[in-house]
Amino acid sequence: MTLTADMPSRFVLAAPPPGFAADPYPHLAALREHAPLCAQPDGSWIVSRYDDVREVLTDAERFSSDKQVDFRPKFGDSPLYEHHTMSLVFNDAPYHTRVRKLLAPFFAAQTLRRLQDRVAQMVDELLDRAADRGTLDIVGEFAIAVPLNLVGDLLGVPREEREPLREWANLILGGLDPQRTPEQLAAGNRAVEDFKAYLRELIRWKRAHPAQAQDTDILWALIQSHDAGSGLSELEIIHNSIFMLNAGHDTTASLIANGIDLLLRHPDQCARLAADPTLMRTAIEEMLRAESPLQFGNRRSRVPLTLAGEQLPAGTFLHVAIAAANRDPRVFADPDRFDVGRDPNRHLAFGHGAHFCAGNAVARMEANIAFTQLLARFPGLVRAGPTVRAERTRFRVIERLPVRLC
Ligand code: HEM
Repeated sequence: MTLTADMPSRFVLAAPPPGFAADPYPHLAALREHAPLCAQPDGSWIVSRYDDVREVLTDAERFSSDKQVDFRPKFGDSPLYEHHTMSLVFNDAPYHTRVRKLLAPFFAAQTLRRLQDRVAQMVDELLDRAADRGTLDIVGEFAIAVPLNLVGDLLGVPREEREPLREWANLILGGLDPQRTPEQLAAGNRAVEDFKAYLRELIRWKRAHPAQAQDTDILWALIQSHDAGSGLSELEIIHNSIFMLNAGHDTTASLIANGIDLLLRHPDQCARLAADPTLMRTAIEEMLRAESPLQFGNRRSRVPLTLAGEQLPAGTFLHVAIAAANRDPRVFADPDRFDVGRDPNRHLAFGHGAHFCAGNAVARMEANIAFTQLLARFPGLVRAGPTVRAERTRFRVIERLPVRLC
């Protein structure tokens, strides 16, 4: 596609142009180069250059994450409203800081080491099953299963009870889509209620069987800290646990599926990585940069300010184009090139500042194990069909990616 200066004036994020989901990058480049702050019909703006995106994500004093005002007209007085407005990511200090501090120990190196063995075993089991068949749908049979089970472990959900988790998470996240239908909203609200009821029951069970809790069980630890007076209510604990699943599984599945897709599209880089597995760390950072799982974040300005040379009143809603920033040639040399050895790589795929992804080390660990074991067992992995992408704008979602294992 040819990049033209008038593209940005026609660009509406809520109704993106045809082909955007297949390849958003020419459009994002046009925005970044010709309209670094791009006005939207509803009064919001898209910000797309690296320095501006980083500034908005970092400066929590001037840019708020609180969504109480934004979500009221969208969700009304509903379970979805209750859920999203209690999740730490959609709040500012002091509530955000309080929840974040309580979660911190679970993302420390010690916990990671305990989770690592379970992830390795799970990946092995998935690959054993796939080896018997000789084919694998990277998304449905691999990329989703790894993070879903990891978050299941983190919340202490028994293995045999994990099946509904993904459906609940999808329905709840579907409610956030800009083009959602009334049916989607109703299904999202039902999913919040079902998930809450399940977690209430699980908490009751954990209280009755405290000796059976694993030391990586966040839900149980939050309940214990609630009992010791942490100040977080049971309802707040439940909503932040649901958020943990939503935040941790689709994004990581996207990293794994997009990572494989990138390797299949760039056989030279795949061969380079297979020949030198010490490149795995930089390869994963490059996957996060090139195909950022969360393509757009958002913030609302708290005060009148100047951004990208434009004066904005207090209360301006900003779409923060992480995917555009991560291909800004002012920061990344030859940004559209996929280079598994790129170093340094200061991408913003995990955000920046106070809300920087709490699970970044978990996601990196899962991806490292998934790619390492997959490539070691099946170095001749080949595509067995086209990559099918979802028509989503905020998330970089692959729905299907069939491969043959050899
Ligand atoms: C490749 C995978 C992942 C990506 C790309 C990703 C991306 C992000 C981004 C961009 C944010 C910041 C949002 C903002 O500033 O508004 C965020 C926040 C968060 N993520 Fe992740 N994430 C990933 C995996 C995970 C995992 C595995 C977990 C947990 C198991 C997790 C838990 C969280 C939490 C709790 C927050 C909220 C942090 C806060 O508000 O302080 N994420 N993530």
